[in-house]
Amino acid sequence: MAFDIDMIKAVYAALPKKIEAVRERLGRPLTLTEKILYTHLDQASPLENYGRAKDYVFFSPDRVAMQDATAQMALLQFMMAGRDKVAVPSTVHCDHLIQAKVGADKDLEVANDKNEEVYDFLSSVSNKYGIGFWKPGAGIIHQIVLENYAFPGGMMIGTDSHTVNAGGLGMVAIGIGGADAVDVMAGLPWELKMPKLIGVKLTGKLGGWTSPKDVILKVAGIIGAKGGTGYIVEYFGEGAESMSCTGKGTICNMGAEIGATTSTFGYDASMKRYLEATGRADVAELAEGVKEHLTGDAAVYADPSQYFDQVIEINLTELEPHLNGPFTPDRAWPISEFAKAVKENDFPSVLSVGLIGSCTNSSYEDLSRAASVARQAAAKNLKAKAEFTITPGSELVRYTAERDGLLDNFEEIGGMVLANACGPCIGMWDRVGAEKKEKNAIIHSFNRNFAKRADGNPNTQAFVASPELVTAMTISGDMCFNPLTDKLTNENGEEVMLDPPTGVELPPKGFDVEDAGYVAPAEDGSGINVTVNPESDRLQLLTPFTPIQKEEVTGMRLLIKAKGKCTTDHISMAGPWLTYRGHLENISGNCYIGAVNFFNEETNNVANYAEGAEANYMAVPDSAKTYQKKGIGTIVFGEDNLGEGSSREHAAMEPRFLGVKAVVVKSFARIHETNLKKQGMLALTFVNPADYDLVRQDDLVSITNFETFAPGKTLNIELKHADGTVDNIEVQHSYNAQQIEWVKAGSALNKIREEIAN
Ligand code: F3S
Repeated sequence: MAFDIDMIKAVYAALPKKIEAVRERLGRPLTLTEKILYTHLDQASPLENYGRAKDYVFFSPDRVAMQDATAQMALLQFMMAGRDKVAVPSTVHCDHLIQAKVGADKDLEVANDKNEEVYDFLSSVSNKYGIGFWKPGAGIIHQIVLENYAFPGGMMIGTDSHTVNAGGLGMVAIGIGGADAVDVMAGLPWELKMPKLIGVKLTGKLGGWTSPKDVILKVAGIIGAKGGTGYIVEYFGEGAESMSCTGKGTICNMGAEIGATTSTFGYDASMKRYLEATGRADVAELAEGVKEHLTGDAAVYADPSQYFDQVIEINLTELEPHLNGPFTPDRAWPISEFAKAVKENDFPSVLSVGLIGSCTNSSYEDLSRAASVARQAAAKNLKAKAEFTITPGSELVRYTAERDGLLDNFEEIGGMVLANACGPCIGMWDRVGAEKKEKNAIIHSFNRNFAKRADGNPNTQAFVASPELVTAMTISGDMCFNPLTDKLTNENGEEVMLDPPTGVELPPKGFDVEDAGYVAPAEDGSGINVTVNPESDRLQLLTPFTPIQKEEVTGMRLLIKAKGKCTTDHISMAGPWLTYRGHLENISGNCYIGAVNFFNEETNNVANYAEGAEANYMAVPDSAKTYQKKGIGTIVFGEDNLGEGSSREHAAMEPRFLGVKAVVVKSFARIHETNLKKQGMLALTFVNPADYDLVRQDDLVSITNFETFAPGKTLNIELKHADGTVDNIEVQHSYNAQQIEWVKAGSALNKIREEIAN
């Protein structure tokens, strides 16, 4: 099953009527985003004019995609839902766990060995539950989705923030946490606050050294790393139509770097060509039949400020190539100003490594444009002065690029081809000498350039640019080089210039591949056993949580009163802990270790009173376990926006696993609040935020009216202080009736299982 044509047929068949109804209900022309969102409303959300940035709405996405790091916990949870098969087409992609070191073949061999049990687990669960499985080496999730599954007008979710890449093929594709993926795979609706809309009008045409990457680097410079938060970005205009489908993918991919919910483009001839080239002429034909419904209404694009909350216009003809960085993707420098920026900001003047590829920029077009630069360099007796790596996004692209000699072009100037995987983009890069922490510069065509992301060295300054510009800069080895204006000296001492890159949108001889790396699931998976070695330190089957009882919220002890910013990274750190993403007990060893203890301003050092009135100081997870062993429930207090950052459900599962019954804060980040609810915990907020100050570290804490827990009703928390005094504080919550059922069942998953069993 490369893709589900019947599903797409059904979506398209229903479109004309549905869109007419939406237009009528909203009483105005529609943006593409609205067409896609409103035609994917779940029955739990009737057709209404939902307020942007205001109303929460339930949707029914068409597909789910998961990468190997996040899929582990998602699938461990899905296994507890009691379903025989996933409710919507879903896929797993093994791309994040392959470390780049010496080149594709050897690195892949090492990864297969090191991650064997994780890959075995993912493949057997996929086989059992009807999930498509893409083997290690098949490629990066978003490239594979674009090549195989994305379709204009569709809606998908994925357990990776760059799921948004599929907007390049006209989808609304959104990155979510594993718990949300479990819901959709189990057949439940998925909830999202109706986003606001940014319209980006592209005029003119790209030319010379400028590429689609420069469009998003420019947009990032305009609206900043957080400017897209809560928005969907819709691109339109003649400039959009003049770009390749994969170029559109690059732009949407990096929408994650401006915080956007997602980005999308209307259906056009480039998408038709891409669908046909990737073996989906039938989808292209179906899309052609409904194409006016797969783009925004003409009236919207004629007067965009009426229909979008914000409009940006970019003239592609005038756009310069950009380099963004270091440490943040929105620090945008046009190439003409970069040399000056290097000098003024004391950026390293020598370029150490150039890296091209990743899910952001590894299309055939990208590789062919970069290869054209490499070819000229070889013809002009130039070699890359900096190290040079190439990460193809998929085996389909790699095989075709190898067949067409593009990989040879890179190797000829000193390039090293890495495995079709994330590699250096996610820090899976065994970079020689990184441990010395020397200041140095790298330029890559990936999306993120945060400190330490690529090689773990906080002093590596990473800049983001298009693959063709990265290749040119790598050849020069000089951060102040501008290929548009500067000459290079070749091995014969002659001065030469690089001509602007040339490339082709799609391979002239078509795509080709021997083994794309796809494994279809069994038709009937009922006989397949999923085994997890009980001795494993990376995987552990989950045991259902038991419902919280009144006695457990009586006489609780404080696990931590977190001070200030407390993100999901503070609650469940990443880095080396990624190894344990599939092992709840082991990963719980990082529970709240990054949060600052209000009482001593230290991290991972809290007072424990399990042995009596005398405080014993210990690590947060140890304190939780000590109380848990004695049957004492625990509670966490925090300040504002607790749980912001990544949507990882581990930040809710770990405290739940370690016996925390309630988290009480001034305010929650919404996804974390929902995750706590899904795990059957109490996510509560102070009615009077100043009550945070009343909490002492040796308090005995009780929720005195837990039995009255109901929608819209406050609860009372009693703080019994060690000096015998008592404070009572009022706390509120946002649980609806269904979510209270989750608490009563022990978790949302327990509730789903109960419902399926009945
Ligand atoms: Fe992988 Fe980097 Fe993309 S981690 S999914 S290549 S953003």
